[in-house]
Amino acid sequence: MLTVRTCIIAVLGVSAGLFSTPARALQAEGGPQRAVLVTGASSGIGRCTAELLASEGFFVYAGARSEADLAELNAIENVQAVRLDVTSPDEIAAAVETVRAGGRGLYGLINNAGVAVIAPLIELREEDLEFQFDVNVFGPYRVTKAFAPLLIESKGQVLTTGSISGFVVWGFGGPYTMSKHAVEAFTDALATELVPFGVRVSVLEPGNYRSEIMSNMRQRMLDRGYTAEGSLYKDRLTGLLKMPVDRAQYKEPDEVAQTFLRALTDEHPKRRYMVVPSPDEAQITIQSVLARLVELNDGQPYTFSRDELVGMLDDALGAGPR
Ligand SMILES: NC(=O)c1ccc[n+]([C@@H]2O[C@H](COP(=O)([O-])OP(=O)(O)OC[C@H]3O[C@@H](n4cnc5c(N)ncnc54)[C@H](OP(=O)(O)O)[C@@H]3O)[C@@H](O)[C@H]2O)c1
Repeated sequence: MLTVRTCIIAVLGVSAGLFSTPARALQAEGGPQRAVLVTGASSGIGRCTAELLASEGFFVYAGARSEADLAELNAIENVQAVRLDVTSPDEIAAAVETVRAGGRGLYGLINNAGVAVIAPLIELREEDLEFQFDVNVFGPYRVTKAFAPLLIESKGQVLTTGSISGFVVWGFGGPYTMSKHAVEAFTDALATELVPFGVRVSVLEPGNYRSEIMSNMRQRMLDRGYTAEGSLYKDRLTGLLKMPVDRAQYKEPDEVAQTFLRALTDEHPKRRYMVVPSPDEAQITIQSVLARLVELNDGQPYTFSRDELVGMLDDALGAGPR
């Protein structure tokens, strides 16, 4: 049964042939059905991506945690739900066994499960920072490590849901943006290490899309007793705890799902795929990267001139994406 969380594209676009891709062709030519594991497939980006890939003919192992979510995912064609909490080594080990037993190998791993912890750094409890990193950083690390032998066997792909928050930083977003910055380094180091084995590594950098992430964030803050009372940031925290968190103002994450499909079917997958709903979000992200470049260059013995920086940019553009 498909629920209200079902992304629009999986219902309308793909079956109408609007987004035909080489994935279908590959399978139509008699190649094996490629298997992909999506962590955090119960809602938001993961759910939308699992549905899209399944409708495109991939076999999707969809990671989820609750019985209700597992049952819902199991009801979708080409989807096998897998109980998978990315903080649980036992569940990760069991998921590897399930995938091995499936006999399809594993072509793609999508490290998507994630949470947001949003609070002022000087008032944040250390255990909450640990929780943020446990899911968003140690999660992809643990799952990738466990599935690496299968991915190397298939010369497959590792994709992680990063964020423009891997580049853009905002007040009270310290824990979340720190975790997404770590995902950037994780991706680059892993890519270098897996190149010799033919495994490609990419990170998707979504902007703001509709999902459960902020309502889960606020509920968690309230459950853990965060309150504006006594805070140095009383007014702003009051606003944060009261703001609408349904993200109704944002688009469904269909284009993020499409970008995962693109990354899985590109002949030469890019290292980074930014996917944002508006030019503003693209601009903010690129400007953040440029601002850091300028800060890094400024006021040190080997500062490069404007012309030299422009020359470096031209060289980088000429070299093309990695
Ligand atoms: N939405 C955006 O605007 C946006 C933008 C940039 C990046 N992202 C990233 O996109 C990814 C998906 O988030 P979303 O926005 O789609 O939010 P979401 O709707 O809240 O989905 C998060 C998913 O992660 C799962 N999850 C949470 N903790 C987990 C754990 N310990 N083990 C396994 N799964 C766990 C959730 O499962 P349960 O239902 O069981 O909790 C859910 O399936 C995250 O990495 C997020 O940082 C989102």
